[in-house]
Amino acid sequence: MNWPKQIKGALESWGKYRVEGLFNEVLVVGMGGSGIVGDYLQVLSLTRGSIPVYTVKSHILPSFVDENTLILAVSYSGNTHETLSALRKAIASRAKVVTVSSGGILENEALKHKLLHIPVPSGLQPRASLPAMLYSILGLLDSSGYSLVTGKEAYESLKFLEANTEHAELVAGEIAKWVYEKVIGEERLFVIATHTPLDSLALRGKNEFNENSKLIVNVDIAPEWMHNSIVGYEHPVTRRFFTLEIVDPEDEAGFKLVEFMEKIYSQHDAVAYKLTLRGGNILEKLMYGSLVLGLSSVMLAELRGLNPAETKNITLYKQEASKIFHK
Ligand code: F6R
Repeated sequence: MNWPKQIKGALESWGKYRVEGLFNEVLVVGMGGSGIVGDYLQVLSLTRGSIPVYTVKSHILPSFVDENTLILAVSYSGNTHETLSALRKAIASRAKVVTVSSGGILENEALKHKLLHIPVPSGLQPRASLPAMLYSILGLLDSSGYSLVTGKEAYESLKFLEANTEHAELVAGEIAKWVYEKVIGEERLFVIATHTPLDSLALRGKNEFNENSKLIVNVDIAPEWMHNSIVGYEHPVTRRFFTLEIVDPEDEAGFKLVEFMEKIYSQHDAVAYKLTLRGGNILEKLMYGSLVLGLSSVMLAELRGLNPAETKNITLYKQEASKIFHK
């Protein structure tokens, strides 16, 4: 619920951070709630940008990285093993590297290697600080000549989000109730279905329901779904579904594709809820959708009597990670 505050904070620093150079591509390195920032930047670049954005959710850097690559290493905590490992490789390459974190080793490494570091407010869950991380980077790219979103558009999206928070909360409550009844109560498989270019929003939704509500979620994306997954619905083992359909009402083909998906789901025992996105552009749609999905996943955790903030298995993995990656 403090997302408008996070956006305001990033808007106050708009223009403060910039990088010099002619870059061929932007590479966002980050995991989980930090890595999703790369996915969102990638959608913005695909739909309205002039520079390609790639997301790396790994400790391995792509082989094409060179002095014409702008690398953004994003880790909310600043202590994520894969991101730090990729950062060290990035520093060893000749790429331009910028770091984003609320502190941690990432910030120390930036200081040590004299890299541009963009701080974000600390004390939150990484996944809850999506706007702070996303808008800080949008500001950096705008000031550096690689704009995906202008300052004016960012400001307008803040006003849009403020005006739509109440509605988002209402829709989130409805979704939480449906998922609680259909997925928890009736043990249905939870599927988030959408159309391109909303893949990253569906992924964000999945991550939110995984981490906040402690649920397993499938993601189905049209039109690729029509070319493989659809066949799995001919003889599925699980025959009871709950589908959360995310649609952009302005995308006629996308809307019809999801309608077709529903036709296939309904050959089985399937219940659907349609989330129709609001927003004047792709940034606003992503932010509105993220807010609804985030809030509903937290509400669902509460309905289940679970703590949305706690992610025990991620902690377990992070304790193992240094052993797994140890040479
Ligand atoms: C926790 C969360 C996780 C983390 C991920 C990487 O809220 O969302 O997905 O984001 O484990 O950690 P950071 O973001 O600190 O690099």
